[in-house]
Amino acid sequence: MNEKMKGDKNDMGKVAIYPGSFDPLTYGHIDIVERALEIFDKVILAIAHDAEKKSLFTVEERVEMAKMIFKDSPNLIVDSFKGLLVTYVEKTNAKVLLRGLRATSDFEYEFHMASMNRSLSTHLDTLFMMTSKDYFFVSSRTIKEVAKLGGTVEGLVPDLVARRLKEKFKLPVAKKRLIGWDD
Ligand code: PNS
Repeated sequence: MNEKMKGDKNDMGKVAIYPGSFDPLTYGHIDIVERALEIFDKVILAIAHDAEKKSLFTVEERVEMAKMIFKDSPNLIVDSFKGLLVTYVEKTNAKVLLRGLRATSDFEYEFHMASMNRSLSTHLDTLFMMTSKDYFFVSSRTIKEVAKLGGTVEGLVPDLVARRLKEKFKLPVAKKRLIGWDD
């Protein structure tokens, strides 16, 4: 459990858990977090250890990137979990799981997951937020594919993520010039 989550769980106000692989985090995810922070007192970004799928970034790398990206959002807590999501949720005082929906194609997977979680923990609800129109085509999977093939993902993921993707795929990372362009 994250340091910020220790102490009296009831002190945290209205808490939502936003679970996912976040491999990597995109502006679509960030948009959901920002909108959720308008509704909830705290949002916990719960990053799943690799369960079935092999992730590109280790859970430590994903947690570190998320902490850097949300360093100025004190009400966003970055944490990770292993095993069943409902078991993790029971350790917090959250009653709401948050998921983004991009298109109807997401619905079936999300419906099954929400129904299974609800059956495992009857006091837990899943709240869906529609992804903003600017990001409805953005997914971690397509971001990785485009980045791997050398395409640009700028504007779709934070610069830190774009840089880390290039490093992972051993693509040249533009070096910041410390001196002027004319020399
Ligand atoms: O970003 P993703 O990959 O769609 O997130 C899926 C995630 C991690 C939320 C889901 O796979 C999950 O909750 N995994 C933990 C295992 C679990 O609780 N499974 C039962 C829910 S169907």
